[in-house]
Amino acid sequence: MALEMTKAPTFGEFIMDRQADFPFVSGQLTRLLTDLGVAAKIVNQQVNRAGLTSILGASGATNIQDERQQKLDVFADEAFMRILSSGKSVCGIGSEEQEHFVRCGEDGEGRQGKYIVLIDPLDGSSNIDVNVSIGTIFSIVRRLTPMGEPLKEKDFLQPGTSQVAAGYVLYGSSTMLVYTTGTGVNGFTLDPAVGEFFLSHPTMTFPSKGSTYSINDAVKARSDRPTQDFIDGCRDAADAGFRGRYIGSLVADFHRNLLHGGIYLYPSTIDQPQGKLRLLYECAPLAWIAEEAGGKAVDDGVRIMDKRPQSLHERSPFYIGNRHLVEALEACRWARRGGQGRNAPSKGLTPAPIP
Ligand code: AHG
Ligand code: MN
Ligand code: MN
Repeated sequence: MALEMTKAPTFGEFIMDRQADFPFVSGQLTRLLTDLGVAAKIVNQQVNRAGLTSILGASGATNIQDERQQKLDVFADEAFMRILSSGKSVCGIGSEEQEHFVRCGEDGEGRQGKYIVLIDPLDGSSNIDVNVSIGTIFSIVRRLTPMGEPLKEKDFLQPGTSQVAAGYVLYGSSTMLVYTTGTGVNGFTLDPAVGEFFLSHPTMTFPSKGSTYSINDAVKARSDRPTQDFIDGCRDAADAGFRGRYIGSLVADFHRNLLHGGIYLYPSTIDQPQGKLRLLYECAPLAWIAEEAGGKAVDDGVRIMDKRPQSLHERSPFYIGNRHLVEALEACRWARRGGQGRNAPSKGLTPAPIP
């Protein structure tokens, strides 16, 4: 078999080439994305060697959300924090693993640097110890307060529509970095021999039809009626090829559905009316990627991208994936309201997600 010797652009080359596409070109965003790629490689190295080192297991601490931190959660958080705050582009960071926003710079007030990063350094923590895919999710917004002034809380609490870049890293059977700056979605695969991300998935879009639904089945039982109706519809459509797939790592579940078509659901429940996932560093960045790839992301009635966050760790119900599937779910919501109010199904759409 002849080896293909064409060379795809590296992540670094690609973002340099695309720099001219950014509305306010300064090079700072290019530098920031480069730094994210470097941090991702450092985390990837630890993830790959996890079974051989003492990095597996709980750190002994809990984070602000009362979740037991794993050692890799802490390692990833420290790696991204260290690398992003030592560059010149970032003035502030909001992380799942930090109770408060972190203002960068020597005086800790975030006076310099144009950009704020919101990050879930290690997504899918419960899968670390069992060698199953995990990820990183990031969102980048521009500061609102003028340069030279201390950052304020409002700089961090911006809606998804204010993002200038968003992406994720998937530490899977291979390691991928997928991102958007609003001109489509591109995916890069890490070649471990070379230590570079190469463009492997240009202009990613959802396939026209999806037939996978991804939900924690135990959560479904406590979710609202429209979600249950929708899932029942999916199950009834098994003969038409519908199937359930749930990894339990949002990045991995989302990525599979982006490539093969599907919908991911983390609904509001009786005990968690806002669901589980965090708006700023889980839902909003993936929502933008989904929309850029032709998909859709909503909560119980509102577009995720339009939600105005009130706090760093705010949660949101989350439904994301192929547009026709998300709209079928919305049609179930509409039907449960007796056909009144928002989310009226588009012409030809039925509550049951028949492909
Ligand atoms: P994290 O590890 O960053 O806290 O996120 C975990 C999230 C997400 O990755 C996943 O889809 C979801 O939690 C799984 O929750 P359940 O265990 O309730 O299914
Ligand atoms: Mn997460
Ligand atoms: Mn996490």
